[in-house]
Amino acid sequence: MIEETRFRQTMGHFATGVAVAATRLPDGSFVGLTCNSLASVSLDPPLVLFCVDHQATSRAALLESGAFSLSLLARDDEALSRRFAAAVPDLRFEGLALREAVTGSPILASALAWLDCSLWKTVEAGDHTVIFGRVEAGGFREDGDPLVYFRGRYGTLSP
Ligand SMILES: Cc1cc2nc3c(=O)[nH]c(=O)nc-3n(C[C@H](O)[C@H](O)[C@H](O)COP(=O)(O)O)c2cc1C
Repeated sequence: MIEETRFRQTMGHFATGVAVAATRLPDGSFVGLTCNSLASVSLDPPLVLFCVDHQATSRAALLESGAFSLSLLARDDEALSRRFAAAVPDLRFEGLALREAVTGSPILASALAWLDCSLWKTVEAGDHTVIFGRVEAGGFREDGDPLVYFRGRYGTLSP
């Protein structure tokens, strides 16, 4: 079986976008984390998935709320990616411009694109939970380049 560091480094060669998965708690506060395990799954019904670490403090809220948003980050949002991966969870949304999706989940106003999802299914897979969402709504900006993650570093690409 491949050693963990080598697995991480090898998968780091699969360039991805970067998203913030977020949800609203019953008390109205928000929870979210940076993720790049996002994938499109099905067109009918429209499904996406992302994987959340069992250790992530956001995991319980994402599973319990029954809904979540995915804000797909733009090239200028590296600081947001770092904030939602490292900062104290309670402070992650502080001072940010947000929009509320139909499900009540928060969408980062600066996002290149967004998805509003209801929780469709979860699957336990090793040390992560695969969270499937049924996409209730989505949208995108006509302009802007994506934030890209590759070999553990941030970059972008322009068409
Ligand atoms: C580019 C990038 C992608 C990440 N992707 C994921 C992911 O797909 N799933 C995950 O559980 N954590 C991922 N992380 C790590 C989490 O964002 C990080 O552990 C975060 O602190 C978890 O927050 P929480 O414990 O408050 O939920 C990623 C981090 C970065 C920087």
